[in-house]
Amino acid sequence: MEKNKLIKEFQQVFSIEASEGVHTFFSPGRINLIGEHTDYNGGYVLPCAITYGTYGVVKLREDRRVRVYSKNFADKGIIEFSLDLLEFNAEDNWSNYPKGMIRYVQESQGSLPAGFDMYVSGNLPNGAGLSSSASLEMLTGVILDELFDLKLNRIELVKLGQKVENDFIGVNSGIMDQFAVGMGKVNCGMFLDCQTLEYEYAPLDIDGHKIIIINSNKRRELADSKYNQRRSECEQALELLQRKLDIQSLGDLTEAEFEANSSLIEDDMLKRRAKHAVFENSRTKRALKSLKEGDLGAFGNLMNESHLSMRHDYEITGIEMDTLVEAAWAQAGTVGARMTGGGFGGCALALVDENKVDSFIKAVGEQYKQKIGYEANFYVASIGDGTKQI
Ligand code: GLA
Repeated sequence: MEKNKLIKEFQQVFSIEASEGVHTFFSPGRINLIGEHTDYNGGYVLPCAITYGTYGVVKLREDRRVRVYSKNFADKGIIEFSLDLLEFNAEDNWSNYPKGMIRYVQESQGSLPAGFDMYVSGNLPNGAGLSSSASLEMLTGVILDELFDLKLNRIELVKLGQKVENDFIGVNSGIMDQFAVGMGKVNCGMFLDCQTLEYEYAPLDIDGHKIIIINSNKRRELADSKYNQRRSECEQALELLQRKLDIQSLGDLTEAEFEANSSLIEDDMLKRRAKHAVFENSRTKRALKSLKEGDLGAFGNLMNESHLSMRHDYEITGIEMDTLVEAAWAQAGTVGARMTGGGFGGCALALVDENKVDSFIKAVGEQYKQKIGYEANFYVASIGDGTKQI
């Protein structure tokens, strides 16, 4: 998106003539290559930041008001609140994300000296599982950091973003999304240990291939999905295993250790939930190894296994995602495909031979429409940097 155009839109919305003191930022969305529902289980994830995301234009005010406007929710108009009263308000809709972030930054850094006007415009399909909410949280956090020269440690900001989601919005999500958005690096995946927050950047050597993001257009919203339920099922399974095993999280177990002890979990459903967490974690480690070795075939197979595990053991895919992924698997040139993100709708990813991208999109699009009745959207992913001033 063009910076000057964004600034003009900002000026129009807030009736501000001068462009001095106006700053522009970009915060990406994320895709997760593999490692799904492992973050809150103390395991590994392998996400990347993408070049679709959320733009923000801001200018300081002289009072303590904050005025925010999103082009994506233009019908809500300008939403206004005070730095001194930052309570969750369902009617305030999207602006609860920036509001929550301002609140927690103030709680950790002390009261901010002044309010600001913020114009937001995003090109991530919202509710598509590409972390539009984490994108907005980190956008706000980095804006505050730069505007007030707070010199915040980026990982601390990532943790505050997660706190907004957990404590302000009420979704019990893990650290992956805010980390991927805040720490992204161009053309790299991030291999993150969600227990210790140790991480490494893994260059994505996928020459001759493209990552295709496929939006099922089945909307998902974490707040009303079964996300929290899956998390508590994993906690129940962990407690049962802890009767005998000295472990902190499901991420501490190898596949063999899990198999040897799985009879501690009598309930078949709970056992399958835990199995997904343990095996997905091990797949994520193997995926990093195959990326480093340039073995894309092995990487693709792990993506496929990950989808099957989410479908049968974690039960978070649904007919839309399964249709998309099965259609993707059937195409010549597909190296691997899986649902990405929290589940219950959202997006799938496919790693596809770059010469087959057009035929892939055509065939998968047709099959999806025929079976589901509405269209899927396709995006060729570019892997970009984390949240920054532009
Ligand atoms: C959502 C959550 C993440 C993670 C994924 C599933 O995106 O916000 O913390 O749990 O689902 O991997």
